[in-house]
Amino acid sequence: MKAITVEPKKPGTAMYEDFPEPDVHEGSVLVEAVAVGVCGTDVEIVEGKYGWPPPGKTRLVLGHESLGRVIDPGTNSSLKNGDLVVGIVRRPDPVPCSNCAVGEWDMCRNGQYTERGIKEIHGFMSERWRIEPEYAIKVDPSLGILGVLLEPTTVVTKAWAHVISVGVRTFWEPRTVLVTGAGPIGLLAALIGKQRGLDVHVLDRNTTGPKPEIVRALGATYHSCTVSALGFEPDVIIECTGVGSVISESIQCVSSGGIVCLTGVGHGGVTNKAAVADVAASAVLKNIVVLGTVNANKRHWYRAGEILARADRKWLSRLITRIEKPDNFKQAMERKPDDIKVVIQFSEI
Ligand code: BGC
Repeated sequence: MKAITVEPKKPGTAMYEDFPEPDVHEGSVLVEAVAVGVCGTDVEIVEGKYGWPPPGKTRLVLGHESLGRVIDPGTNSSLKNGDLVVGIVRRPDPVPCSNCAVGEWDMCRNGQYTERGIKEIHGFMSERWRIEPEYAIKVDPSLGILGVLLEPTTVVTKAWAHVISVGVRTFWEPRTVLVTGAGPIGLLAALIGKQRGLDVHVLDRNTTGPKPEIVRALGATYHSCTVSALGFEPDVIIECTGVGSVISESIQCVSSGGIVCLTGVGHGGVTNKAAVADVAASAVLKNIVVLGTVNANKRHWYRAGEILARADRKWLSRLITRIEKPDNFKQAMERKPDDIKVVIQFSEI
């Protein structure tokens, strides 16, 4: 079969190449790939900035936002041939730490977790892949190719779950939420905000392209100014840019008792506007919680499935702005100005 592979930490090594069929030790369920989403993490791995191959190997099969069709359910699963499934990304550490021991691998405490297509286990950008039945999530068949949005939805489902568990520390009636960044994560976070009945605002630097209209079609308000120029104090900010200045302004502009949830992974950046202690002082004086969140466990995967199943299909389909063939994976990894989610399609749905 063919797979998109890379030698992690070595830029320019990604290839669509012949690769051995998936090993039966990777799981008893055999799946034919339908589509795989591309995200910033994949781009970082291809650029040689992130990623780890399986132990004893040099190359890693890329891809963690999967969608596939079961072609052999094996003997030990309730799945059937033809079922559409998505693979859970993370596996618990082998120790295991207390969180992994109770199934909260997203909260792994010792960093020895593994992740498909990212850290030490092959991903899903191959014509066929295998998975353990307990890590295969069946998706609503009416979603079709939109099922590929499940993994990014799990990430924001967890983010929202943690925001809510922080919120209930006190008397809490959130009304307004600001999402910074109108990429797939931001737009899916906004979708959840709407499903929760909140007044949703999305901020992004783009003034043209599909994003403003997609936000409006959700019934949310689009802004292309800075957070401090918004003119109101959101009760919740879901930060999806990873940009230093957006983060520090978010902490300073959120309402008293507000929550800033960081989901973006940024690097470096100098902020000459606000020193760390000044940002921290406003967090202290306004009882603000700033939390970081990554990955998702099974309860978030389950909820994310419900969120997608409830969402308007036409709106969801606008998030997939480009579909590329596996041969064109290099183009799929390039970020074009109007891209939201780029998907590599391996087979017809
Ligand atoms: C993935 C997560 C993963 C994280 C860190 C993200 O792109 O969606 O599942 O935990 O990268 O590796």
